[in-house]
Amino acid sequence: MGGTMTVQGGCPLYGTAEVPAAKNSVLPLLAASVLCSGPVRLEQVPRLSDVEDCLSILRAVGCAAAWEGEDLAVSGPPSCCRMPLAETARMRASVLFAAPLLARLGRVETALPGGCRIGARPVDWHLMALEQMGAQVAQAGERLVLTAPAGLHGTEFCLPGPSVGATETVMLAGCAARGKTLLHGAAREPEIFDLAQFLNRCGGRVQGAGTDEITIEGPCTLRGISYRPMPDRICASTLACAVAAARGWVTIAGCSPVLYAPVLDILERAGCTVVRGQDSARVGRMGTLRGAGYLVTGGYPDLATDAAPLVAAALLSAEGSTLIEDRVFEARFGCAEGFAAMGAAVKASGRKLRVEGGGPLRGAAVTARDLRGGAALVVAALGAQGKTRIAGCEYIARGYAGLGEMLGGLGARIE
Ligand code: UD1
Repeated sequence: MGGTMTVQGGCPLYGTAEVPAAKNSVLPLLAASVLCSGPVRLEQVPRLSDVEDCLSILRAVGCAAAWEGEDLAVSGPPSCCRMPLAETARMRASVLFAAPLLARLGRVETALPGGCRIGARPVDWHLMALEQMGAQVAQAGERLVLTAPAGLHGTEFCLPGPSVGATETVMLAGCAARGKTLLHGAAREPEIFDLAQFLNRCGGRVQGAGTDEITIEGPCTLRGISYRPMPDRICASTLACAVAAARGWVTIAGCSPVLYAPVLDILERAGCTVVRGQDSARVGRMGTLRGAGYLVTGGYPDLATDAAPLVAAALLSAEGSTLIEDRVFEARFGCAEGFAAMGAAVKASGRKLRVEGGGPLRGAAVTARDLRGGAALVVAALGAQGKTRIAGCEYIARGYAGLGEMLGGLGARIE
């Protein structure tokens, strides 16, 4: 879906959409597969450009990684400690490959990861934890070389903040390290639980994932398994916000509403109808929406930072205002410029986005500047009168496999 997308707004959405596997689960699982002694199969993985970048990284370090239908087959062992620069720099999650490669090869040469431009995204906590586990870190400009000549050892580490990625790095390193690792202040996102479940099914001993204290008994011999990653709660949130913007009635299937409860609660308070099932939710919108007041994002189970621009997009023409503060990233609302071009009364400053609401949106030419902000422009365009041309859709393809097709299946007119 690279390039541009044209959305004809004003078509209500009806039908059922299946939520695909979570990007934020698949990426760490691909990194974890480097630790496994046998082949790993990940079932029903969406073809995202971030996933393709992970496959390139795996192949560059000597692993076999290939699509088999909708599944991904990965097998090691890795033989090369040099991570490819282009893919590593392009994607933040590339940092997750450092610990497994370091553990298996005693050395990894990598680069500071890039990713979406949503503010500073340092990896200092990943590196601090690995150093405390016996790694030596040398940094020259953007280049990073990590070595662990004597292998990794368990440790007691206190994360300065609840980082999802750093929690995953410690879990991956802890499985390969000698002795027990105790992590305080862990992030509690469900994708972390999914990674722990995968590692434990492979033969790992990870306890406490989903709470802020995780213990890992290393070293573990991990075998390969076949595993189905959890559903993508941000994709489910995107669908819910899309219905809220476009009107209609949609069943969002294959994802427990508990996983994105804050988004559903906000939409319900704003005037949508939400019917929660075990593994699906029905979201409907008929009349005018109300502004949602003051919203803040945070670590799970709070409103996800990734969902913030999507929720904003759904409420752009609501009666009454919404103020969203993102407490996780510094510059989440790069999409505000596109919202404004569509006639929305919005004001972004730093971590905050104010939506005054009220007026109708009209189609415009806009540009996606990051993954979720790009999806938010699509959501806004669904609720606008006329055509919106969205450039920069390669950002959207990082995290959605055929968002246009998925919404098209519900009645949206997207090219
Ligand atoms: C993951 C998700 C991303 C989501 C984010 C927060 C993946 C692949 N991506 O990103 O979609 O938006 O969680 O839920 O799972 N921090 C540091 N130093 C570090 C690490 C993090 O200061 O070493 C800070 C970050 O700058 C940020 C905060 O911690 O302010 C949270 O970041 P983190 O949870 O690490 O995000 P990611 O794991 O990169």
